[in-house]
Amino acid sequence: TIANKDVALGEGEKKGARVKVSGRIHQLRTQKQVTFITLTDGYGQLQCLLQGELTRTYDAMTFALGTSLTLYGELKKVPEDKKAPDSRELHVDYYEVIGSSPSGEDAITNKVSHAQNQWDQSMLDNRHLVLRGDHAAALMKLRAHTEWAFVKTYHDMKFVKVAPPALVQTQVEGGATLFNVPYYDEKAFLTQSSQLYLETVLPSLGNVYCIEKSFRAEKSLTRRHLSEYTHVEAELDFIDFADLLEHLEEIICRVIDAVLEDTEMAAFLKELNPTFQKPQRPFLRMKYSDAIEWLNKQDPPILNEEGNTHVFGDDIAEAAERRMTDIINRPIFLTHFPTEIKAFYMKKDPSDARVTESVDCLMPGVGEIVGGSMRMEGYEELMAAYEREGIPAKDYYWYTDQRKYGTSPHGGYGLGLERFLAWLANQHTVRTTCLYPRFMGRCKP
Ligand code: 4AD
Ligand code: MG
Repeated sequence: TIANKDVALGEGEKKGARVKVSGRIHQLRTQKQVTFITLTDGYGQLQCLLQGELTRTYDAMTFALGTSLTLYGELKKVPEDKKAPDSRELHVDYYEVIGSSPSGEDAITNKVSHAQNQWDQSMLDNRHLVLRGDHAAALMKLRAHTEWAFVKTYHDMKFVKVAPPALVQTQVEGGATLFNVPYYDEKAFLTQSSQLYLETVLPSLGNVYCIEKSFRAEKSLTRRHLSEYTHVEAELDFIDFADLLEHLEEIICRVIDAVLEDTEMAAFLKELNPTFQKPQRPFLRMKYSDAIEWLNKQDPPILNEEGNTHVFGDDIAEAAERRMTDIINRPIFLTHFPTEIKAFYMKKDPSDARVTESVDCLMPGVGEIVGGSMRMEGYEELMAAYEREGIPAKDYYWYTDQRKYGTSPHGGYGLGLERFLAWLANQHTVRTTCLYPRFMGRCKP
């Protein structure tokens, strides 16, 4: 429903009173005696009708897609089969043009359908106009709602929200994807993950989470990599690996429930992703070593990046991971990755030191949407991990102190919001699930 108070409450109809409505022209249809305007104000749409004398007071220069207007008239109920939004229309008796818009075919606004390549260069240059389209706007609303669903669910679970810094001096996920920033007379990076900071407040706040930007200087262009993305991260204290996996299932399912509770979001999801099925718990659990075997067993085998069959220690590359997830076609917890291909802070599996208590959650169509693990608890072990990774331990004194001052079994994860949405809303790329995507070669608008 359009936001104007008289219209929203239906007061106008009840009283048969004259109402005033402001918005922009979303669609325009001119016939001999009648002009139909679909007005939008970002909240909803209203069909407006200009008839008789009024239709002779303007020309193509006056009304175009995007033109902002204030309209006055009487609000009428119309039969459902007339397909007017909310089965209502405004019979206009007077209007004012607030801001005109260029007329003609090159206006990129609501004409951009989701069938069109929203990620081609010209669409990306005109992202500010593309965002006026129905499809992009609905996706942004779904995103806002999903973020709210995370906040609500964590709140219900009694997790405390914190706001760690974006300017940092420590890497979390490897030196190769760090963005450097000059910081007065020092060097700094844009954060890759808030995980280490979340760990520092477990003793005082209990389970914590944050929804912040993370930055990665990804040097490849893929469907699912951004330079700047929204990272939903949580850290849980006094848990074991099984608890971590159960919590992950729960948060994902509860967030989906909260999104689907909203009828507008549910309808939109149905349109975008008609075969969407809420994931069933428990998610499939699959060890890295079993995944390697699974990939090699396919006919033909799904190969590694060098074109060979996989061996223990290989990274499972994006393409192979997605093939596997698409074939299995349900959420997968891929666990127990080898120590050497995972981050320095991950806890080793007590029953097999070659692997870590780590998990990636893989979703059909996207692959990895979550990365998480249990964290190393011991001081000596952590010092050795710094050494192995070539990390200067002195910069991490505050992180190391967590092991000195009352360590605990704890773990957590990070979920890429854009990837979560790409999976939920069946998007080809994460570029359509954020407002203004940033990736190598693009830093505008
Ligand atoms: O697997 P990652 O690198 O894990 C971490 O950063 C952990 N420190 C998180 C933690 O335990 N608190 O990243 C986590 C998730 C990935 O699964 C993916 O969904 C998303 O962040 N992600 C990206 N999304 C878009 N573009 C990128 N370049 C991304 N890199 C990671
Ligand atoms: Mg990862």
